[in-house]
Amino acid sequence: MTPRMFSFVGGNTGRWRIVRNLSVSGMPLGEAARLDILPNTEIKPQLAMGWALRGLTSNERYVTREEKNHLLAVQPDLGRSEASCAALIPIRKNAAWWAMTQDERRSIFEERSHHNRIGMQYLPAIARRLHHCRDLSGNEPFDFLTWFEFAPEHEPDFDRLLAALRATEEWSYVDREIEIRLILD
Ligand code: HEM
Repeated sequence: MTPRMFSFVGGNTGRWRIVRNLSVSGMPLGEAARLDILPNTEIKPQLAMGWALRGLTSNERYVTREEKNHLLAVQPDLGRSEASCAALIPIRKNAAWWAMTQDERRSIFEERSHHNRIGMQYLPAIARRLHHCRDLSGNEPFDFLTWFEFAPEHEPDFDRLLAALRATEEWSYVDREIEIRLILD
């Protein structure tokens, strides 16, 4: 069965080398040299060298059937051999976001911010996986762990995508965001 739980462990070991660790908003995350992604595990923080963040893949909340079909047709898998660059972007949204109803959030996410419409322009160059942390027991520091993989020549595209999303109304509800860039070596 495909695992749903993933731990992202920052420390001295791991397949990915961390080349940037930037606090875009809110409290920074500690420095670490490398990142490991461990499926199906719940690393105890005291066992990790630096930090450990965990999240679960889940069902979609906001996409329509049409959008989902389009995504399924175009989105690439993780782990492509040419995709030696990655980004881990942990995100927390504020209380005002979570106080809204599902239809109010969808309206901001897509009708007003065009999150999926913007993101689709960067597929299939960028592969992605969204992890949810909010409903895990244990007072998680973020609501989402977002993970992206792409080839080095698509890094400028990824930078443009980040700038476009951060300028949206949806992002006015983000109160903590860390941008971690990585390369495979
Ligand atoms: C959620 C598409 C890039 C952060 C989503 C969802 C879609 C999507 C369809 C909604 C999933 C659902 O229905 O529950 C894309 C596409 C991208 C992209 C196609 C192109 C690569 C990004 C980037 C970031 C990001 C670069 C971070 C900087 C998020 C977050 C959520 C999300 C935090 C969860 C929103 C929430 O549930 O409140 N994305 N996205 N996405 N995406 Fe993206």
